[in-house]
Amino acid sequence: MEQAFDRDFWERRWDQVVREHPEVVATRPPNGHLTSEVGELEPGRALDAGCGHGGEALWLAAGGWRVDAVDFSPTALQAGRSAGLELGADVADRIAWIEADLGRWSPPPQHYDLVACLYVHIAGSVAEFVTRLARGVAPGGTLLLVGHRPIDPETGADTPAAGQVQVSVGEAVQAIRALEAAGGWRIDVAEERRRAGEGSGVDAVIRAVAPDRPSAQAEPSPAFHTT
Ligand SMILES: C[S@@+](CC[C@H](N)C(=O)[O-])C[C@H]1O[C@@H](n2cnc3c(N)ncnc32)[C@H](O)[C@@H]1O
Repeated sequence: MEQAFDRDFWERRWDQVVREHPEVVATRPPNGHLTSEVGELEPGRALDAGCGHGGEALWLAAGGWRVDAVDFSPTALQAGRSAGLELGADVADRIAWIEADLGRWSPPPQHYDLVACLYVHIAGSVAEFVTRLARGVAPGGTLLLVGHRPIDPETGADTPAAGQVQVSVGEAVQAIRALEAAGGWRIDVAEERRRAGEGSGVDAVIRAVAPDRPSAQAEPSPAFHTT
C-alpha cells in the first residue's frame, strides 16, 4: 500500500524522534540552505511553513525575525516551543507556533518579508502550493523553497524522500514565472544542490524576490482560503 505522508504519519514520526532522540531535537542546527540564502536579509516578519521541531524558526527568531511557525504535528510544535523557552524569552516571544494543515492554510496576503518552506511533502498540486505561499510574501520580500528530490540523479536510486512530492526547480520556477508575468517577481536562485551523505541525492533550492510594489496578485482566489 502507498505510504500517506499525512498528519498521522508525521505525528507518529515526531513522537518517535522526540522520545528516542530528544537531545538531537533540542540542539539541531538550522538548515544550511536557509542560513546561506537568507542570512544577509534584514529581519522582519517570517513564515516557516512546515517548521517541524523548529530548528529554522528558532534560528530566525534568534536573529531578530518575528516568526510564524506552522506545522500540523502538535508534537513537533511542542518540541519547538520547549526549545524556544530554553533559549530565553527574547527568542521564545518572537515565535508563534501555529497548528495548521498547509494543504488548506493560506498565509495572509503580502504579509511576510520571508516565506520559507523546507522539505514539505505536498499532497496536492505543487504549482498551487507554491503560488499560495508566494502570495504571502510582502512587496520586496523573499520566498525560499527547498525540496528533497526523491531520486538520486547520479545513481537513479531512491532517496529518503522517495514517494513524497516536494518542490522541484522546474515546477517552482514555472509557478513563480506565472506570478512574474503579472508583476515582476525575480528568481535569484533555482538549482539542484548535492546533499551531504552518500545516497541522499539532491535538494532543489529556489529563492525568489517579490515585486517592490503591492500588486493585484495579493488577492488569493477563494479556493486558496483556509476553510
Ligand atoms: C521533513 S519535515 C521538515 C521539517 C523542517 N522544515 C526541516 O527542514 O527540518 C516535514 C514537516 O512538514 C510537516 N508537514 C507536512 N505536511 C504538512 C501539512 N500539510 N501541513 C502542515 N505541516 C505539514 C510535517 O509535520 C513535518 O514537520
